[in-house]
Amino acid sequence: MKIVTVVGARPQFIKAAMVSRAFNKYDSVTEYVIHTGQHYDDNLSDVFFRELELPLPNINLGVGSGNHGNQTGNMLIKIEEVLLEQKPDWVLVYGDTNSTLAGALAAVKLHIPVAHVEAGLRSYNRRMPEETNRVLTDHSSDLLFAPTDTACNNLLREGISKDHIKVIGDVMYDAALFYARKAENFSQIMGNLGLSEKNYILATLHRAENTDDKKRLETIIDGFNAVADDMMVVFPIHPRTKDKLRQYNLLGMISPDIMVIEPVGYLDMIILEKNAILIATDSGGVQKEAYFYKVPSVTLRNETEWTELIEMRWNRLCPPVNGQQIRDCIFEAIGSEGNDIDMYGSGNAADRIASDIIFKD
Ligand code: UD1
Ligand code: UDP
Repeated sequence: MKIVTVVGARPQFIKAAMVSRAFNKYDSVTEYVIHTGQHYDDNLSDVFFRELELPLPNINLGVGSGNHGNQTGNMLIKIEEVLLEQKPDWVLVYGDTNSTLAGALAAVKLHIPVAHVEAGLRSYNRRMPEETNRVLTDHSSDLLFAPTDTACNNLLREGISKDHIKVIGDVMYDAALFYARKAENFSQIMGNLGLSEKNYILATLHRAENTDDKKRLETIIDGFNAVADDMMVVFPIHPRTKDKLRQYNLLGMISPDIMVIEPVGYLDMIILEKNAILIATDSGGVQKEAYFYKVPSVTLRNETEWTELIEMRWNRLCPPVNGQQIRDCIFEAIGSEGNDIDMYGSGNAADRIASDIIFKD
């Protein structure tokens, strides 16, 4: 059996690393990995292949950045060419990026079955590019790997047959379990940055809704600055956010008390997350990792797809409308603890994905 995996963005390399490892247990399976080139900086792409022992992609399409139509369209053209040549039995896509949608669309048009990991997540905010990508990918897929019952119910409500849905847990949880010990042995980041345990807030920011609106971005930075008056903030900055800050002439407003660093590799990120006293983020993956390491988090958005984190009080939503409010929300959440979430599986999601694809009748 031949499986073509399509990846392109940071979180997809982490998820694919786990599933590739699961495919490797089967001699009958050949995996061919397409990297669309959506992420191309070393610290958004290559570092994950080096550190996570993920086989190098068989091909990098080098699509790079661009407007949605341009980026997704170029991927579609190039992925189709590879699929025509490779003739896989399945195409496997992850998450909700433009690479996900392009992979699914290229495959479904060629009548190649599509498997989607992280199916069924919904924000119900159609202004998010990710929401469009998720909905269209789910409705193009033959096998939908939902991480939770909530995600499964979202799919059922949209009329997707339960025969196509598998609730298998969260492959990011598998990754957290698998890489946490490796991270402890490998990472020097605490010493390198001069950080001590539970003495700083970790912040990440990259969602278009936060970065592409000057006022909103300014408000968030205002909030981080107010936090940094009383507590160290470590801010690995996504290149999108840096570009927008530069474009809006806001780079100079970042307080010198904020430790702005380049994006870090996954192993360093695990250590930064584990040792933070709180995580403030708009990332999907980082919200969950905060819970995996039992660190309270604040999500700088109006809504989240991972609603159980809110219900179980590990995470709280803080729509960025006012800097002082962001500061207060962060300080209120420090030290809080939620209830256990028995929803992300037991760390075998990747094995389930591999076996469900291979043995699908
Ligand atoms: C993308 C996904 C988002 C996901 C995120 C993971 C879409 C629509 N968005 O967002 O869902 O959460 O990846 O990190 O697919 N850039 C660089 N170097 C790079 C990559 C990007 O400098 O290697 C800069 C460019 O200015 C680019 C901008 O970041 O225009 C945005 O990159 P893009 O891949 O379009 O979206 P992300 O914000 O990374
Ligand atoms: N991540 C990382 N280095 C960073 C920031 C994030 O390795 O500097 C990891 C993080 O631990 C998580 C994933 O990238 O596993 C989340 O990716 P991102 O926030 O870019 O996207 P999202 O999950 O929101 O799609």
